[in-house]
Amino acid sequence: MGFEHAEDRGVNRSGNAVFTDVVATRLSRRDVLAGGLGAAVALAFGRPELARGQNLVGFTAVPVSAEDRVVVPAGYSAEVLYSWGDPISDGPAFRTDAGNTAADQERQAGMHHDGIHFFPLPAGSQSSTHGLLAVNHEYTDDGLLHPDGMESWGAEKVAKSQAAHGVSVVEVDQTAGRWRVVRPSRWARRITARTPMRVSGPAAGHVLMRTATDPAGRTVLGTVNNCGNGATPWGTFLTCEENFNGYFVHGGDVPAALKRYGITAKGFGYRWHEHDSRFDAAAHPNEPNRFGWIVEIDAYDSTHGPVKHTALGRFKHEGAALTLAPDGRVVVYMGDDERFEYIYKFVSRRRYDPSDRGANLRLLEDGTLYVARFDSDGSGMWLPLIQGRNGLETAAGFATQADVVVNARGAADRLGATKMDRPEWIAVHPRTGEIYCTLTNNTSRGRDGAPPPDAANPRSNNVFGHIVRWRERGGDPSETAFAWDVFVLGGDPQHADPARRGTVKGDGFGSPDGLWFDARGVLWIQTDVSTTALGKKDYAGLGNNAMLAADPASREVRRFLVGPNGCEVTGVITTPDGRSMFVNIQHPGESPSERADPARPSAVSAWPDGRADGRPRSATVVIRKRDGGVIGT
Ligand code: FEO
Ligand code: CA
Ligand code: CA
Ligand code: CA
Repeated sequence: MGFEHAEDRGVNRSGNAVFTDVVATRLSRRDVLAGGLGAAVALAFGRPELARGQNLVGFTAVPVSAEDRVVVPAGYSAEVLYSWGDPISDGPAFRTDAGNTAADQERQAGMHHDGIHFFPLPAGSQSSTHGLLAVNHEYTDDGLLHPDGMESWGAEKVAKSQAAHGVSVVEVDQTAGRWRVVRPSRWARRITARTPMRVSGPAAGHVLMRTATDPAGRTVLGTVNNCGNGATPWGTFLTCEENFNGYFVHGGDVPAALKRYGITAKGFGYRWHEHDSRFDAAAHPNEPNRFGWIVEIDAYDSTHGPVKHTALGRFKHEGAALTLAPDGRVVVYMGDDERFEYIYKFVSRRRYDPSDRGANLRLLEDGTLYVARFDSDGSGMWLPLIQGRNGLETAAGFATQADVVVNARGAADRLGATKMDRPEWIAVHPRTGEIYCTLTNNTSRGRDGAPPPDAANPRSNNVFGHIVRWRERGGDPSETAFAWDVFVLGGDPQHADPARRGTVKGDGFGSPDGLWFDARGVLWIQTDVSTTALGKKDYAGLGNNAMLAADPASREVRRFLVGPNGCEVTGVITTPDGRSMFVNIQHPGESPSERADPARPSAVSAWPDGRADGRPRSATVVIRKRDGGVIGT
């Protein structure tokens, strides 16, 4: 079992009162759209785009590919910029035999690039030729990381694995269309699974956060499984801790609260606990409470310590899509990526002030966390997760707000939130303010003992996934009511089985995951079909994982990029002028066993180095239009 797709394993089997109401009034999406509120909602969505009457997407689609390279449309280039093991500043070079030490790895790019953001330099400028890239390094494939595999195991290997996790910040610049990493750089840094970080918000200092090495419960060592991301208008990077449970083992009876988050006897096989006892959850039962948060990192200040913001709730965070309410409060949309988990949002108590960066750096410390309920009539509600309200009482295990945020899943269960098909990234349309969320797949939907389809998750055995979108009441993201619609059901329009065709207009796709709006309003969709599924009949016609561009108004989907063998495509950002796009290619070379073969690392993919004796490396690719134009036009 691989590390990454272990996220597929959990199933939320908690009781959920409102869920039965949804079933009782369950209507097919067609019925909903035929009349009443649903029809009004459907007509309202995307209208500003239609009024413009232009085709947003201008490139020639690329065909399905099973080649071991990055394929982009005619007239575009894709160049590798920053790969696992590359020095971040003045660090040592990558050794093809993976012989770098743990100390080397602390000064090199981590493994398995995921979310990414571009911060212009100088700070506050709109530069599109000089800036900082913040990059998530989600997890490690230890067979690739250690030249002699995992047969022998020791503290050095644990340290190297921990150093390959986290986030990197590197300085980049561009001359005549060519980008490079600037070395050395005073901004460059690595944040790893050992970097000290402050805890903020309602759980800071709470007994649930206290451990033997941190009796105050206010300083955590490290961040792990950094998946999707967000960014703030004050120049910070939000990194999302996803499958943190997999790093822990628990040899005893796992308490219910830890079980709810997927803590098991064996974890995902990282073996960190053998040399770093805090990952033994039986010995250190509060250590797992210190992961599963949104972490804020100041890209512009390499001396600033990262902060874990507990007000935003603890779950398997995928992304953090930030927008501003009309009154200046900050709203962050977040998915919990596991089957039958929820969509959340956070609304800050204080307002963003462009002239007070110091105050902005504390905005995510205080606010209200909500969880979404999608009703079958096309309306929805944000349910507040506030101690003392809606049954979140002491008797139910929620004596303080710290209990609520640490066990956000349990609190959301009690409120009757809607169980979704694995919420991944969320994106906010730059003009309409409509919010889109990928639901990557859920083959358990409709199975015996698992929840049946509902209006917002309308397919049993949801192999291909879908994208939902909603509009907040009055267009105000701080509102508690919304109208929603299914934007697209993923699938292959050529599929022999009509149930597998979805509602895709244009190029087929499955397992939508990364999601991002560019400034023009193009919705970029990145796919993460698991390597085990790629060769199977459902996906036989779809080739390697891809990135596609969708027009929210016409709903046309067009394939823009196909990745090398065994990869997923995840993380995308452009420079402010839209003329350079950075895309991450994660886990090239993964085989159906969900790892690269340690004996022959390049057997599936030798990307990006192209050496048969080398090893595949996750990397950031920069995409340019050869005529220097805006990407996607
Ligand atoms: Fe790390 Fe849900 O993808
Ligand atoms: Ca993934
Ligand atoms: Ca993802
Ligand atoms: Ca995924």
